Amino acid sequence: MSDRIDLQTLRRKVEAINALPTVPATLRRISVTLEKPRIGLEELGRLISNDPALTTKILKMVNSAAYGFPGRISSVSHATMLLGLNVIKGLLLGVSVFELMEKTMIGLWEHSLGCTVAARLIAQKKGLKEPEEVSVCSLLHDIGKAVLMLQYSEVYEKAMHEAEGEGTTIYDAESRYFMANHAEVGHWLVQKWHFPPSLCDAIRYHHQPNLSKQWPMETAIVHVSDVLVRAKGIGYAGDLVVPAVNPAAWKTVNLSDGDIRDILSNLEDGAASASDTL
Ligand SMILES: [Fe+2]
Ligand SMILES: [Fe+2]
Repeated sequence: MSDRIDLQTLRRKVEAINALPTVPATLRRISVTLEKPRIGLEELGRLISNDPALTTKILKMVNSAAYGFPGRISSVSHATMLLGLNVIKGLLLGVSVFELMEKTMIGLWEHSLGCTVAARLIAQKKGLKEPEEVSVCSLLHDIGKAVLMLQYSEVYEKAMHEAEGEGTTIYDAESRYFMANHAEVGHWLVQKWHFPPSLCDAIRYHHQPNLSKQWPMETAIVHVSDVLVRAKGIGYAGDLVVPAVNPAAWKTVNLSDGDIRDILSNLEDGAASASDTL
């Protein structure tokens, strides 16, 4: 379709979200900070500690079932030490994107939290070294939807209505109006915020996991989590369908029937307890 919003315009608008008055102030501030190439854990820790509301949100989140640490994490310095730079960055964005998601697409936050819990459970079953990194990636995987909705609300709403009416996914409906989909939009943002390649790749390819050549496991986990959460009916992701699992991704995660039963039974409780956090 020739009147689709072109790539250049789209990217410019997406990357300019800091300038939007409708973007929550915390998100704007965090986004500006993360654009600096060499931000350290100490500086981020200070940024959180200086903001009591942010401190409460981060500590509630890391102590929720979405993370599942055995003891209580009672301070920001303890959290940063345990979780590391990438997870803390992701959480900071996650808790500040919450407000944006609530404003743009009711249910997207619950969907994202559900995916966070599912991804951590799968990553643990697969023995990944950094299960928290994959789960924070799942928290942010659909951030592109919130930003598209914010910048192009009329067009995006139209796409959502079409997806619902036709029984297709929002991912398919987006392509009629935009030359990049929400996964690519999310990818631009996490690149801008200097996230590691594994996280960027998993966000970029979460709907086409077979295209991720370097990080197939991380990408497959985010993809499978998304489908499981939709199948379980947690939250709302912009359409009413449960897409098929990509066969290559399914093979990569290679979950047993017992694993799936276990994940599904833990999913609802985990997502519910995490959604009490904000
Ligand atoms: Fe998505
Ligand atoms: Fe999703």
